[in-house]
Amino acid sequence: MPRPRVFATRPLFPAAQQILKANCEIEYWTEVERISKEELLRRVKDKDGLICLLTEKVNEELLRAAPKLRIAANVAVGFDNIDLPACTKRNVVATNTPGVLDETTADFAWTLMMTVARRIGEGEALARSGAWKGWDLDQLVGMDVWGKTLGVVGFGRIGRAVARRASGFQMKVLYTDAIRAPLDVENELKAEYRDLNSVLADSDFVSLHVPLTGDTRGMFDVAKLSRMKPTAFLINTSRGPVIDEAALEFGGNGAVFLEFHPELGAPLGKTPERGIVVMHLRQRNPRRDPQVRTSAPGSSGLVRPGYRARSGRQGGGERIPQSQDPSAASSRRFQP
Ligand SMILES: NC(=O)c1ccc[n+]([C@@H]2O[C@H](COP(=O)([O-])OP(=O)(O)OC[C@H]3O[C@@H](n4cnc5c(N)ncnc54)[C@H](O)[C@@H]3O)[C@@H](O)[C@H]2O)c1
Repeated sequence: MPRPRVFATRPLFPAAQQILKANCEIEYWTEVERISKEELLRRVKDKDGLICLLTEKVNEELLRAAPKLRIAANVAVGFDNIDLPACTKRNVVATNTPGVLDETTADFAWTLMMTVARRIGEGEALARSGAWKGWDLDQLVGMDVWGKTLGVVGFGRIGRAVARRASGFQMKVLYTDAIRAPLDVENELKAEYRDLNSVLADSDFVSLHVPLTGDTRGMFDVAKLSRMKPTAFLINTSRGPVIDEAALEFGGNGAVFLEFHPELGAPLGKTPERGIVVMHLRQRNPRRDPQVRTSAPGSSGLVRPGYRARSGRQGGGERIPQSQDPSAASSRRFQP
């Protein structure tokens, strides 16, 4: 039986490469520049499998160009770059890598929270500028995190990991989600379920952890932001477009994480004065974290479509359930 032909839009970690080499005819995109759409369409023409990043769109156009494709394995937790209904229509399995970055992303959300609360960005810029003339009583006065109220929007894997850390800071935790968490989870994390407006009104820090979908795109617009306390911070480690771009000019304190790309020039000028903007930074080091080495391909699915790769283990590629198909109920929970 001929081995499946697979194209990967980026060289993977060595352990993943070994698995692929043993099972497939694998071809990698090795240029430093991201692959262009045209080149991608050309490369997938005769492929059975595609391993892609969130920078590549798996849509009608790509699927039309790849009539043999049986799987699109996304090396990312979010899968907003994948048109699930189009994949379903063509019987193409889509997989992602849930769970790999829960703690990493939660750490990062906390990094942003502490950074804006304690005004680290401004302090660092001042220190480097050479303009700092010495300490003063009212200089760059920050805000405590300890004892404040944390609002989590999207209480899935990452949202809960963020909430878990709040107990060390004796914070009150509020959350909202399309689906209320089981009582034992609420009790364990001492988290109180509220509707979104109530979370926004009562939180000192609002941390976003919803996937980017038709429902959540632009979900945080000026109207939503105006419901927040004027002193509150907004932390976004989900996807940039969950915040409406016009809302960035709204002001307030918000720390805004934007997934900007160099070619877009980044709407840096639009972010609040005390906000900080960083690029997509969260990733784990495979040398230090062996668990991530083979997390990328969702590789079992390449040879057995529909098979959930290493189900239940953190770090494996997993088939994206049909419930995540935006044409199905968009509020259904994805892998609780
Ligand atoms: N920036 C990063 O490095 C990074 C890393 C991993 C994941 N992410 C992003 O974080 C997102 C969340 O990841 P996760 O693993 O926690 O996902 P998850 O599926 O475990 O949790 C998402 C939660 O959001 C809820 N939700 C969905 N739509 C909603 C809506 N309209 N209103 C309220 N709640 C809604 C779901 O019910 C679910 O509980 C991913 O989709 C991805 O976009 C970012």
